[in-house]
Amino acid sequence: QPAIAAVADHYFAEVRHAIPMLSLGNAFTNPDPKPGEDPDKEVRDFVRRIDETLDRGALAFSAEPKLDGLAISLRYEHGVFVQGATRGDGASGEDVTANLRTLKAIPLQLRGSGWPDVLEVRGEVYMPRADFEKYNEHARLHGGKVLANPRNGAAGSLRQLDPAVTAQRPLSFFAYGIGEVAGGALPATHSATLALLREWGFPVSDLVTVVQGVEGLLAYYQRIGAARDGLAFDIDGVVYKLDDYAGQRELGFVSRAPRWAIAHKFPAEQAVTILSGIDIQVGRTGALTPVARLEPITVGGVVVSNATLHNEDEIARKDVRIGDHVVIQRAGDVIPQIVKVLTEKRTGKEKKFHYPDHCPACGSLAIREEGDVVRRCTGGLICPAQAVERLKHFVSRLAFDIEGMGEKIIEELWEKELLRTPGDIFRLEEKNKSLQPPMQEWDGWGALSVRNLFAAINARRTIALDRFIYALGIRQIGEATAKRLAATYETVENLLESLVPHPPQPRPSDDAGS
Ligand code: IVH
Repeated sequence: QPAIAAVADHYFAEVRHAIPMLSLGNAFTNPDPKPGEDPDKEVRDFVRRIDETLDRGALAFSAEPKLDGLAISLRYEHGVFVQGATRGDGASGEDVTANLRTLKAIPLQLRGSGWPDVLEVRGEVYMPRADFEKYNEHARLHGGKVLANPRNGAAGSLRQLDPAVTAQRPLSFFAYGIGEVAGGALPATHSATLALLREWGFPVSDLVTVVQGVEGLLAYYQRIGAARDGLAFDIDGVVYKLDDYAGQRELGFVSRAPRWAIAHKFPAEQAVTILSGIDIQVGRTGALTPVARLEPITVGGVVVSNATLHNEDEIARKDVRIGDHVVIQRAGDVIPQIVKVLTEKRTGKEKKFHYPDHCPACGSLAIREEGDVVRRCTGGLICPAQAVERLKHFVSRLAFDIEGMGEKIIEELWEKELLRTPGDIFRLEEKNKSLQPPMQEWDGWGALSVRNLFAAINARRTIALDRFIYALGIRQIGEATAKRLAATYETVENLLESLVPHPPQPRPSDDAGS
């Protein structure tokens, strides 16, 4: 029901985070290292980089469970809870204050004294496992909607339009950090800050502890890994944070992740199923991507029915054939992967897959340039698949961020021939006036959602230059490069000017001798 989602998206006001809510880099322990290879190289590299920058000997880290829920920021003014927001894209999220007020774990008034005038507390809203099971059991019995996993349960519950519904959901909260602080001071370390947050009434997990050096981190990882199945809540790894704030400041950030913290993820969960087919998808830049269709199977609490195969070399390397038994794995929110084929289960009826050399969407030649791992459709914008993917990218969160204009809506508007190029988005409202029937009378749409959609489009007629550049969807120009280009050119006019080919100007030295 995309139109309903479009309506829902407009009920939450936007909250800009005074201090961005960052993400974390990941480290994995290699489950089968080659002889002489260090399975914990990624964690050791993380500590070594910090060591090299700070050069101050033994390092203390806060070691914490990595909760699998939804990050939020809670703002307190003079000890009173005034606003709560989701992480969103990290720069701004949704105002879910009314829903957060219904959580018993979130103090409405801070306990004790000594809190700063403004204090933002950050942490994770999660649904305890037992409550998740109970909720689903009830839903199954009474024909309600069953939640896919505790994490989706937490996210969906917080985005309810009616706080009374959120109040019925078994949500909890753990604090793990701070955002803006003004009119007061906090201790010099993260661990001392968490201790204070506990005194002021915030739940902090008792699994949080301070450990020394890389050996301390690895021992913590083992300990929590062993305890994982028995915990009351889902975790997908542990998080290490340099304890000392001065050191954190010195280290700073790369892109959107701090250099002073990292998530050490547990290995992905695996399962065996049958590969029933391979489809080819065409991406925004024309890349043909094989997608494995699987007989549905539950992995880590989620039903999986397709997996990525990356590219044609991967199919060859893994010798994946249709009908094969395959080991698949799923980690967090990423698309499931095919780990290997169980060749011992072959019956001889499995079929080899022949990779297409023409685009399945437009029939254009699909070629693989030298040195490239992917085969690409050469159709450009003639190719409907590329054009639709470009449009989806154009409206996406880091680009024009047109609320309610999700992938399904783009596809529907494309099929109805109302969208062909990005510019059509901004002519949609005008066009709708002469449509028979108008969009508000389409199946599953409605007057309110259509009005909201046009309002969301109109709200993005002017946007920041970096978003505009990113929205163009040029290969190799991601978020970071778009920001740099915007900072360099400052205006779209300057950028366009730089793209116009100028005839070569004679250099002064060329004239000198003539
Ligand atoms: S700290 C600057 N601590 O992981 C670091 N995050 O990938 C900001 N998460 O969005 C995050 N447990 O939803 C931190 N103990 C923990 C965490 C944690 C779970 C989640 C959080 C965040 C994501 C970052």
